[in-house]
Amino acid sequence: MRFGNRLMQQAEDLSQFSQSEIGLTRTYLTAQHRQAGDYLLALMREAGMQADYDALGNVVGHYAGTDPDAPAIISGSHMDSVVNAGKYDGLFGVLSAIACVRDLHERGIKLAFPLEVVAFCDEEGVRFNVTMIGSAALSGHFDPAWLTRMDAEGISMSEALLAFGGDPAAWGPLRREVKRVACFVESHIEQGPVLLNEGYAVGVVTAIAGCTRVKISLAGLAGHAGTVPMPGRRDALAAAAEMTLAVERVGLERADRVVATVGKFEVAEGGAVNVIAGAVSFTIDLRSGDDAARHEALQTLRAALAEIAQRRGVTLDWQQFYALDAAPCDAGLQMQLAQAITHCGLEVRHLPSGAGHDAMQFAAATPTAMLFVRCGNGGISHNPLETMTADDAETATRVLLHFIEHFTLN
Ligand code: HGY
Ligand code: MN
Ligand code: MN
Repeated sequence: MRFGNRLMQQAEDLSQFSQSEIGLTRTYLTAQHRQAGDYLLALMREAGMQADYDALGNVVGHYAGTDPDAPAIISGSHMDSVVNAGKYDGLFGVLSAIACVRDLHERGIKLAFPLEVVAFCDEEGVRFNVTMIGSAALSGHFDPAWLTRMDAEGISMSEALLAFGGDPAAWGPLRREVKRVACFVESHIEQGPVLLNEGYAVGVVTAIAGCTRVKISLAGLAGHAGTVPMPGRRDALAAAAEMTLAVERVGLERADRVVATVGKFEVAEGGAVNVIAGAVSFTIDLRSGDDAARHEALQTLRAALAEIAQRRGVTLDWQQFYALDAAPCDAGLQMQLAQAITHCGLEVRHLPSGAGHDAMQFAAATPTAMLFVRCGNGGISHNPLETMTADDAETATRVLLHFIEHFTLN
């Protein structure tokens, strides 16, 4: 095994850089970001790359090509995690790309195309509620307004970046000129059960689902739980509960093409056992591979929540804070990935991605591809039970390496 065992050990090593005592949580611009970044820099340099942090905290490695005019192949994924995460979401794509460059370097091979490996600084958006910060910067979608976003402690992204040693004023030059990028390719665990259930080690991603996220804030009337009669209460928590079921119903009624989730649910000041809740907020995450279906579901949902609010006498504030259209993967690159899989003696399985990925940021202007690798444990992810095997890590890295070594411009 050339890659698999070492990759699994590296993922194990990196999982120690966590903000939480139990499980793995690693968010943007924290000490753990720095620890994991330093570990990845060392791996990149060992692999023969020039590597360093960029102004926003991405960890970027360069491996020169033989043709100075050739555009670069960029490969990578994110190094941050959700709260209480698994060990492979994001990082697998970074470690696998580094392993490919290391193998080329050890064999003394320089390709015509320069290679860039990127560990994106923040894809999950846990700390500042902004996702895909690093990949947005490299693809020209960074919004400087994000720099004023505050975390739960009231620290702005800009302050945190300065404390990290970054430069909030230098996000502009991180944008890669489109003509200087040959393709973006990301390998990532599937985070679902398809490859596992059907017996495939790897799969070629056809498209990445579009996603809209909304924060709902409800204001009712707080009151004494013992004295306010049931009829006529303006109970914000009961309203939010009915709305949460409406989110689920809208998803279930479109289960072939939409998923809808309430992931965060907060009663103001935490609520109290003997108080009718006056203020409640919750989030909606609604996705589809079909943008029209996503928009229709959102409109239906918005009307349903308005009806519930009106009937229950609560006011509803609808704040959309994130929207990304579905991203198709480049057909030519899908074919090159399929050829690499065939070369490795495997059957090819194409499948869509329900999860969002940094690759979405590149797809509008750059040929973009994703390689999925099988997840164990029923495909569970965003959960410490997330798992994969060294054999599949080996297979996916061999496929990625073959793709990179035989890459041809469309
Ligand atoms: O939410 C997502 O799909 C990704 O894991 N950030
Ligand atoms: Mn994730
Ligand atoms: Mn991910």
